[in-house]
Amino acid sequence: MAIEFAERIRRIPSYPVAGGYAQQEPLVRLASNESPYPPLQAVREAVQRALGTLNRYPDPSNSLLRQRLSERYGVPDSRIAIGNGSCDILLAAGEALLEPGAELVYAWPSFSVYPHLSASSGARAVTVALDAHERHDLQAMLREITVATRLVLVCNPNNPTSTALPLADIAGFLADVPRHACVIVDEAYCEFNLLEDPDASIELLAHHPNLILLRTFSKVHGLCGVRVGFALCGSEELPRALDQVRQPFFCNALAQAAAVEALAHQDAVEDRVTRTVAERISVEERLRALGLHVADSQANFCWVALGEDRDEEQIMRGLQERGVLVRAGRALGSATPALRVTYGLPEENTRFLEALAEVLGPAPAR
Ligand SMILES: Cc1ncc(COP(=O)(O)O)c(C=O)c1O
Repeated sequence: MAIEFAERIRRIPSYPVAGGYAQQEPLVRLASNESPYPPLQAVREAVQRALGTLNRYPDPSNSLLRQRLSERYGVPDSRIAIGNGSCDILLAAGEALLEPGAELVYAWPSFSVYPHLSASSGARAVTVALDAHERHDLQAMLREITVATRLVLVCNPNNPTSTALPLADIAGFLADVPRHACVIVDEAYCEFNLLEDPDASIELLAHHPNLILLRTFSKVHGLCGVRVGFALCGSEELPRALDQVRQPFFCNALAQAAAVEALAHQDAVEDRVTRTVAERISVEERLRALGLHVADSQANFCWVALGEDRDEEQIMRGLQERGVLVRAGRALGSATPALRVTYGLPEENTRFLEALAEVLGPAPAR
């Protein structure tokens, strides 16, 4: 007799993981929007110190981390939730807010975990196409919000398209969203956005009790390996509900220690942003020189349109054969051939561009 799984097991999509984890030879890993910079020495030392406490359960309320985040962002610690990565908070929000009969609204293509929330809860997913500039169409999203909408997801800057919306547009959108619907603005990449002060959105929390700003230590802080993220919330009931649906001790001791230490090194964050943006400008210029269209990136990755006639799979294979891992656009929801490419170290980016030029071959004659 076959094992009988819950109905949702058939609905939940698998997360599209990048390959290459078991590979021995050095690869250029530009597929997961990771930081190419290793953890800071001070963060390593903090983790080293925390190793000695591993016979004890971690602080279940993450008090020191919430206190440091409260000091850093000016949000009371009672309105801050921690997660085992920000994905954990997303999934908890799905569990706390969604159920059959409820609706979830998000743009598409956007972060590949969002479809999981409706699939696992049985809520209806309402997806809204991006606009012509591959940004969220907030007016179209507003039109989809109904009495049944419990959760709206806005990814800014958007993964996979790298584009960002002006904060004023998000503020206007929030003013029109009815209070019964919770809005998560997923700001995993906000530090790389040069169009806006990354912390300007925090002011919106004072006006919107239904708002969650979702952030992570995985990207600019380069700590995706320990899994820690956080949510700054517009009201206390949100973190309470998020904690209620999760197992106790969801954020491990090493992650808490690493995050607390990372927060004390804002200068390093700024330095990493500067270096990433320098690579962003350089890579985009070189991609355009290859005749490719690149979206206006405000993140640590770019979104490259390959052109309707090109074979995305063949290009992915060619890059992989040359030791370069990037992400295929179609697997991330693109209707046309595309690549999502994380900015790595200068030499990694050059290796990617050389490999891509080889795989594409000479430009077609005009
Ligand atoms: C838009 C977005 N949100 C959230 C996450 C989750 O990050 P983590 O769970 O590592 O904090 C990612 C990771 O790639 C992302 O792209």
